[in-house]
Amino acid sequence: MRHFLDLADISAQDLRSILSKAVELKKARAAGKETRPLAGKKLAMIFEKNSTRTRVSFEVGMMELGGHAIYLSGKETQIGRGETIADTAKVLSRYVDIMMLRCHDHTMLTGLASHATVSVINGLTDYSHPCQIMADIMTYEEHRGPITGRKIAWIGDGNNVCNSFISASGLFDFRIAIACPKALAPSHEMLAWAKSHAREVEVYSKPEDAARNAHLVVTDTWVSMGDLDRKKRIALLTPYQVDSTLMQSADKDALFMHCLPAHRGEEVTAEVLDGSQSVVWDEAENRLHVQKAIMLWCLEKM
Ligand code: CP
Ligand code: NVA
Repeated sequence: MRHFLDLADISAQDLRSILSKAVELKKARAAGKETRPLAGKKLAMIFEKNSTRTRVSFEVGMMELGGHAIYLSGKETQIGRGETIADTAKVLSRYVDIMMLRCHDHTMLTGLASHATVSVINGLTDYSHPCQIMADIMTYEEHRGPITGRKIAWIGDGNNVCNSFISASGLFDFRIAIACPKALAPSHEMLAWAKSHAREVEVYSKPEDAARNAHLVVTDTWVSMGDLDRKKRIALLTPYQVDSTLMQSADKDALFMHCLPAHRGEEVTAEVLDGSQSVVWDEAENRLHVQKAIMLWCLEKM
């Protein structure tokens, strides 16, 4: 059984096949030549946190592949009243063919996967957001060709999305340079993983050091879902705003990405987010194509 929990669990070869499939699915959709390889399959989507892109792209994706998606909110299900994740996993496995979970604690996701008898996909946890990074790589390559050997600059909070970029750097063989305040550096666990896989993660305190000659500049919200220390974060992260001056430190053909939702005037200026180097709308669209490919991979229908 195949789970899609973290990029580090999956071989580089399988991740590459998922990306190729996503490109093929995108072309087929544009040409009106879609097929329904998941006809009759059911996806349960459990959300403990808000979502626009993840929810709609998984639901539309499953529909387009011929299957059906069921939205479950953490609060409205018995999970919200304390039913264990192990029991939930066993019961849902009797109804559906595949599950997707967005939750706070990453161990809830691994717990769901270890008790489920169907595939489980990570739809974001406090630790990682692998579906997002697959869409980001697809988007980079669509615009600029292979990401291998390129330099990616992550500016701001060393959060869940940043963690998945670090995992991806080893598997797709690109350089990752992070600029963040010390207090908001990527998790020790992730940096230790990178070190043990012979990946050098460059960590700087000045945004321009990370952005210098980068081929892709990425940022994310300063206050992720579940973060309670908004005031402190804004104070720490204000020097890390991505603006047009910072973009000038990057390569002249550099792209800008943001997983969205964005806060113009905080982590990024409107000028950059809505400017010519930004590919955020393609990035959001590619969530759909990549997640269709991830579901096909999980269900061994690729
Ligand atoms: N980028 C992303 O995961 O967006 P949502 O929170 O809207 O799902
Ligand atoms: N880091 C953000 C990503 C949202 C898609 C969060 O966890 O809220």
